[in-house]
Amino acid sequence: MPSTSPPPHEPLRYLLFSASLRTGSLNTRLAGLARAAIETHGGTVDAAAMVDFDCPSYSQDAQAKGFPPGADALRRRLETSDAFVIAAPEYNGSMPGMLKNVIDWVSRFRPQPFNGKHALLLSASPSMAGGNRGLWALRVPLEHLGVRVYPDMFSLAQAHQAFDAQGHIVNQQLAGRLDQTIAGFMDLAEAAKHYPCAKTAWVEFLGERPDSSA
Ligand code: FNR
Repeated sequence: MPSTSPPPHEPLRYLLFSASLRTGSLNTRLAGLARAAIETHGGTVDAAAMVDFDCPSYSQDAQAKGFPPGADALRRRLETSDAFVIAAPEYNGSMPGMLKNVIDWVSRFRPQPFNGKHALLLSASPSMAGGNRGLWALRVPLEHLGVRVYPDMFSLAQAHQAFDAQGHIVNQQLAGRLDQTIAGFMDLAEAAKHYPCAKTAWVEFLGERPDSSA
């Protein structure tokens, strides 16, 4: 009998952005390395910039007048991706306000676009902790919204001294760890896409009835 191998899977599509608006951002540099690693491991990258998702401050009154283009852009790009990666600065032990603001905006669309997506969180900071506390803060609203946030996170400490002139991480052990973290995340996202096993019903707050349209 002729041997039949299963048809090859389409590469997964990863939305990737740095949550910094700053020229010369360390997180944007880290996002550039993540992009190269995702492509090396066979993924397709939709590279975005935080400016694409800039929104006025959220309020329900503002929402009643319509969604801003930045929120709509993030919604669309989430919907056309299998998973997403954010390289986020740490501001005062948390995530930048503009990032939480656009998450709040996007959380109001139905179906709720974050639900069921896989995410990997990265950070870079001049500090010794690399902005890792900010990622723990970012994990909370994302998990609340039904995102499967990858257990491992990568935080680049002393990031202002960590890159060489070509933009690579000088410390080979750290560079290897970034690559392994991304490869592990991609394996999980791939497995979840093709072998779905866990389904959860997303509700916005405790006590709410599960909404079949979410
Ligand atoms: C910071 N920074 C900072 N760093 C850190 O490790 N922990 C922190 O809590 C803060 N808090 C903080 C607040 C505000 C308002 C600013 C502007 C900065 C420093 C920050 O990590 C550093 O400026 C990074 O370079 C910012 O990231 P990008 O823009 O380089 O990607």
